[in-house]
Amino acid sequence: MNSKTILAALALVLAGILVWMLFVWQPDNTAVPQPGQRLALASQPSGGDFVLAGSDGPVALADFRGKVVVMYFGYTYCPDVCLTSLSLIAQGLSALDAAALQKVQGLFVSVDPERDTPQRLADYVPFFHPRLLGATGTPEQVASVARMYGSSYRKHPKDADGNYAVDHSSITYIIAADGKLVDMLQHGSPPASITAAINKALASGK
Ligand code: NI
Repeated sequence: MNSKTILAALALVLAGILVWMLFVWQPDNTAVPQPGQRLALASQPSGGDFVLAGSDGPVALADFRGKVVVMYFGYTYCPDVCLTSLSLIAQGLSALDAAALQKVQGLFVSVDPERDTPQRLADYVPFFHPRLLGATGTPEQVASVARMYGSSYRKHPKDADGNYAVDHSSITYIIAADGKLVDMLQHGSPPASITAAINKALASGK
């Protein structure tokens, strides 16, 4: 083979790989993340209905039709990120007028169901704001909901004492009264932005 033939063959192989990656290959986004692994994500969050578990029984997004839902994925043992985010969300809720607040439900979804039981969530989450509710599910259920919303998380291996951290994306999701995902606020968004996003979703009348 001369060098031109080799180059042509190489180009053909590369083109084949490109076509395969573009049109055939799909990231495995059905798996539950294992320690050290990051959850593979759908490229664009679709949102959608789900049922998880709260301390008083099932928590379904459909239960909150007619309300704007402010949702966040995290875990109660989080050393910092979740505390910050829950505080910002709580401040955002507190800035709503009383009538608006009645039409809003905060939802903290734990991505650490191994430690965050529904009861633990009930003891922890409403402390930040009474309109906040905690929910979780089986690892498969949590992974499924996270995937729908494009949230990612990664459990670290346990240390000698059995403790572990869970890296997680930090996005505040705004779901309109009709159950559609309408807004996503990046980590650290100030309370005024959260209040404004909620009010916009309320004003849309959906
Ligand atoms: Ni956190």
